[in-house]
Amino acid sequence: MARNKIALVGAGNIGGTLAHLVGLKELGDVVLFDIVDGMPQGKSLDIAESSPVDMFDADFKGTSDYKDIAGADVVIVTAGIARKPGMSRDDLIGINTKVMTQVGQGIKEHAPNAFVIVITNPLDAMVWVMQQATGFDPKKVVGMAGVLDSARFRHFLAEEFKVSVKDVTAFVLGGHGDTMVPSIRYSTVAGIPVPDLIKMGWTTQEKIDQIVQRTRDGGAEIVALLKTGSAFYAPAASAIAMAESYLKDQKRVMPVAAYLSGEYGVDGIYVGVPVVLGAGGVERIVEINLDESEKANFDKSVTAVRGLVDAAKGML
Ligand code: APR
Repeated sequence: MARNKIALVGAGNIGGTLAHLVGLKELGDVVLFDIVDGMPQGKSLDIAESSPVDMFDADFKGTSDYKDIAGADVVIVTAGIARKPGMSRDDLIGINTKVMTQVGQGIKEHAPNAFVIVITNPLDAMVWVMQQATGFDPKKVVGMAGVLDSARFRHFLAEEFKVSVKDVTAFVLGGHGDTMVPSIRYSTVAGIPVPDLIKMGWTTQEKIDQIVQRTRDGGAEIVALLKTGSAFYAPAASAIAMAESYLKDQKRVMPVAAYLSGEYGVDGIYVGVPVVLGAGGVERIVEINLDESEKANFDKSVTAVRGLVDAAKGML
């Protein structure tokens, strides 16, 4: 069987990390695309030269020509600009809407059967622009945010409880912004919900509230430390988990920015919700029960996403 082909549009910090992870995990051959001449070629060659050491078989090609993404099974998009200290994700909307339109046309023309994962911010609006630009079935166009936000939440919870991250599950719903909704009720240690762990004396409500806020500010915390760009290791790892679930039909249940058609009372936009991700793309949207306060926070987040989508619409 031929190897899968994975096209990475945007070969910056996240794009380069994605290419390396695809190689290490032997998910397929990689096409690394960027508008900067030489950079995708240089990163591709560098990663290919690491393959004899790490013992993986994959082809790497750097390019600035959309023809090279032809026949890609998965396209992961990080093209655009990343934020600098003091900027919110929403500040990127002007430039990145234009970039998504351009990239979407390239994907539509050369990789019409691809499963598309968008990482570019502001995420929920950019994945909407990508779906519009490609005209693809919304089940085949998703945004990566929830896996990252819940990974941050899981990391902080594991640190607090002093247990393995492997035994911590967590859910973050809503938009990928300040209004995201980390759910305490649906977060567990080996199946024990966090509210029960508070009752068991493992932590306090106050500490959990701090962790929820740190999760919401997770991206900004990294931006403030790095000063020259935004997070890239955890975002890349998160998108790879989604690509793997699609390529291997794993049917993993993951929070992703998915197109909603009435689910959660939302229609016609992308918002972070749990889904089943398999060979059909988004195979099922999981409608979990939200209590009053979760619902109010989710609705607030949806309103923020709608505002961004309207702003992007105005720029198209
Ligand atoms: N087509 C292709 N690539 C482009 C285009 C375009 N029209 N415009 C910009 N790029 C490339 C840049 O040349 C750069 O190499 O996108 C790359 C982005 O890389 P970085 O600046 O290193 O940003 P990164 O950290 O990878 O983040 C990318 O993901 O998480 C989001 O907020 C983040 O929107 C940002 C994106």
